[in-house]
Amino acid sequence: MKSLILYDSLGGNTVKVADTIERSLLKSMSCQMIKVEKELSIDLFEYDLIFMGSPVIDWLPTNTLMSFVKRKMKEYNSMGLIKPSSPIIPGKFGISFGTFAGPHIGENEASPMTMWLNSFLQHLGYTTLDQWLVVGKHNKNPEINKNGRLGNIEDRPNEADLLYIENKVNGILSSLSAWNHN
Ligand SMILES: Cc1cc2nc3c(=O)[nH]c(=O)nc-3n(C[C@H](O)[C@H](O)[C@H](O)COP(=O)(O)O)c2cc1C
Repeated sequence: MKSLILYDSLGGNTVKVADTIERSLLKSMSCQMIKVEKELSIDLFEYDLIFMGSPVIDWLPTNTLMSFVKRKMKEYNSMGLIKPSSPIIPGKFGISFGTFAGPHIGENEASPMTMWLNSFLQHLGYTTLDQWLVVGKHNKNPEINKNGRLGNIEDRPNEADLLYIENKVNGILSSLSAWNHN
């Protein structure tokens, strides 16, 4: 399986999760990790297992990641690759992940972001297996890290958060054992 971690991170929290995914994946398969950029040129269909991650910004992914997704949708659509019913392509899997501070309504303000990314992957015909959300302190508004809906999140993501992700990767790889990881 060829795997890809495509992510964005504005303040450094989400890259910690991406790094953890990469480290865990590398124990059993090769993996490419790319921070998304406006003009990134890549063919996602070359990858069998795609992790897409972002900080939650106003409930959604970053503008850079959303612009990338919209551009790829247009491109793949013009190539006839976005089909009615989005037929499932066997052996193609996706997972969305991200970090969020949840200051107002907790995880409810983060799940639109992972759903948005998973919807994109599903449009391509990828089967989305999960969505992983990790708490990450607000880098621009530190005051909110003490009194938001999630309580004190000043040290997040912490070791336990990253261990949670490592375990999740191990679980996913076990569930994909029917596919050759190499
Ligand atoms: C401009 C801005 C908007 C944000 N909007 C949300 C939001 O809607 N919901 C949320 O839970 N967290 C929100 N956050 C908090 C970030 O999602 C969180 O701190 C995340 O861990 C940042 O990741 P990064 O360091 O990889 O950029 C926002 C942060 C910023 C800077």
